[in-house]
Amino acid sequence: MRIRRMRPEDLPAVMEIEALSLPTPWSEDVWRQELASPFGLYLVLEEGGRVRGQIGARRAADELHVTTLAVHPESRRRGYGRALLEAAVTEEHGIRRVLLEVRPSNAPARAFYAALGFRETGHRPRYYGDEDALLMTLDLPGDAAAPPAGA
Ligand SMILES: CC(C)(COP(=O)(O)OP(=O)(O)OC[C@H]1O[C@@H](n2cnc3c(N)ncnc32)[C@H](O)[C@@H]1OP(=O)(O)O)[C@@H](O)C(=O)NCCC(=O)NCCS
Repeated sequence: MRIRRMRPEDLPAVMEIEALSLPTPWSEDVWRQELASPFGLYLVLEEGGRVRGQIGARRAADELHVTTLAVHPESRRRGYGRALLEAAVTEEHGIRRVLLEVRPSNAPARAFYAALGFRETGHRPRYYGDEDALLMTLDLPGDAAAPPAGA
């Protein structure tokens, strides 16, 4: 298993995983714009030469905002989601807080974030159009390279 920067040629596999994982996957145009942006961090996890999961995040000062995270349904519960989140935090030095939105109805993702030490810190009405979002926050210890608590 290895984690590396996402490349445009990864998009077919990445978009397939998203389509299998999330109710409103990004279009190819959005993915290409995000990959071209200097503000985005996009990583993929490969196993046996195949992409099995991905994470996207944007940094603002010492906060990392996770914008997308998905692991192929056949590859879940192997620690890949945790590894992707840890890799994003490690890649961006000096991160003190990780933030993300999650659907209240997404029980597996909420359990995953809780297992990693995230707390529910807010509520964004109609964030998804059809559903509110819960804002989840993970405060990291002072050491910039430290992995998420609970890892
Ligand atoms: C959320 C997601 C990324 C987790 O990825 P994963 O690789 O399966 O997670 P990990 O194996 O790293 O899980 C780490 C821990 O989180 C918890 N966890 C993960 N999935 C869980 C589930 N379905 N139910 C309960 N706890 C869960 C467990 O404590 C797990 O440790 P364990 O397997 O040793 O018990 C994955 O389920 C997914 O892609 N879901 C669909 C997309 C999605 O909802 N993304 C998030 C949008 S905000």
